[in-house]
Amino acid sequence: MKNSIPKKGYSEKEIFNHFDSFQQVDTDWKSGKTFGAVYYPGDNYAKVISKSYSKFIHENAFDPQLFKSILSMEKEVVEQVSNLVSPGTKLYGSLTSGGTESIFLSLLSARDWSKEKKGIDNPEVILSSTAHPAFLKALRFLKIKPVVIDLDSDLTFDVKKVETKINSNTIVLIGSAPAYPYGVIDPIEKLSELALKYNLLLHVDACIGGFFLSYLKRLNYSIPSFNFDLKGVTSLSVDLHKYAYAPKGSSILLYRDAELRLSQYSVYSNWQGGIYASTSFMGTKPGGVVASTWAALNHIGEDGYIDLTKKTMNAVGKIVDYINSNTYLEPIGKPDMSLLAFKVKENKTYQLADLLNDKGWYIGRLQNPEGIHLVVSCIHTDEVIEAFLKDIDWSLEKLFSPNFSSNLQKVGDGVIKKVLNLLPFNQLKKTLTNQAEKTSKKPSKKRIIYDIKENLNSNESDDLFRSIMERFYS
Ligand SMILES: Cc1ncc(COP(=O)(O)O)c(C=O)c1O
Repeated sequence: MKNSIPKKGYSEKEIFNHFDSFQQVDTDWKSGKTFGAVYYPGDNYAKVISKSYSKFIHENAFDPQLFKSILSMEKEVVEQVSNLVSPGTKLYGSLTSGGTESIFLSLLSARDWSKEKKGIDNPEVILSSTAHPAFLKALRFLKIKPVVIDLDSDLTFDVKKVETKINSNTIVLIGSAPAYPYGVIDPIEKLSELALKYNLLLHVDACIGGFFLSYLKRLNYSIPSFNFDLKGVTSLSVDLHKYAYAPKGSSILLYRDAELRLSQYSVYSNWQGGIYASTSFMGTKPGGVVASTWAALNHIGEDGYIDLTKKTMNAVGKIVDYINSNTYLEPIGKPDMSLLAFKVKENKTYQLADLLNDKGWYIGRLQNPEGIHLVVSCIHTDEVIEAFLKDIDWSLEKLFSPNFSSNLQKVGDGVIKKVLNLLPFNQLKKTLTNQAEKTSKKPSKKRIIYDIKENLNSNESDDLFRSIMERFYS
């Protein structure tokens, strides 16, 4: 690692050689190896999108009077997305840096609006345990009390439980379309009825689903209502750096009322540095993101998005069929779109996940219950899916073969776990933290981390992973 800026800058060639060597350790995402985190519309679209980014790479979208071109593009993007997600309703929106910021701002405006209009000083927000952690993070920043509703044992979200938690401090209900873990849309219609009944705000987190579900509707899939047609919905977030295939750093937050959007703005008109006003969390705002988001929507276009949606659902269908017909696997939940969850019989889910990691696949792990999580997108072509399913076949054969030293592996895991569990917490933390940063070629054993975690209380567990994060960045 180089810890000082080189005296003489590298040439272009040297820079790109360095990138090549940095990238050696990366997952091969362009070959579709990632089931999450990356959304790529293919080289042809991507070329135009990145060229658009470069064209506006130095422009700052902070001041709407400086680059009017960017202001026009941002307004068009907001209009276009609002017309796609909730046609026929006049909405007020902002472009933000991502789902987390959109969620943060929706809660900020809910808090400040409820304080001003209803005099609520100790706000509470009711959300399901499957809501994205961006909510808990924002609630922490904003000092708002989260009231978390656990799913029923069949993994459904019972809105009656929400009603029992509503009190005079409740400011906003949260629904997801869909929630990330099982890809299932929350009962937004019922939440909307509750919001109207108790005069509450209702935010819909359609960060991952807003764009994709809108096209599924056009393709006549039966999708439960989640948008502003439901009169109780007051705000909705939809990320464009996911299924709209815009570059990272792009999301839209939409409001039914201009007044709520106004609560989100930060204005300091008497600052000595001049009048300061910003619409979102960002100060300086990348012009490249606005331009390339505009380019993604307008270059891919409706036909392009429909085609990418069909390709994605083709891959989804193949994986779902495979899971349903494989005696070792079991689906979890009934997903509404392209997020899939499944488990392996005999508690071998994390073992399968580790083997798939060893084969270079990036997949998610769910907990309570254990599961493998896949975000499927258009990068998952027939060939990619074929290779993926072949690797699952291979792994399952290995895991369930009478010759496979499953017992030996269990004994091995057991010994490691026992030794680790015997360590005092601080030493356990040190051992796992040291281990986590090693990018060795050794087989993955993430399953052990999940097992160890079971024996820790939630503070210890958070503490452990905070230390691991700290080590990554040290
Ligand atoms: C449903 C949902 N909400 C919010 C987020 C957070 O979005 P971001 O990572 O862009 O901040 C995600 C990310 O995957 C998500 O799936």
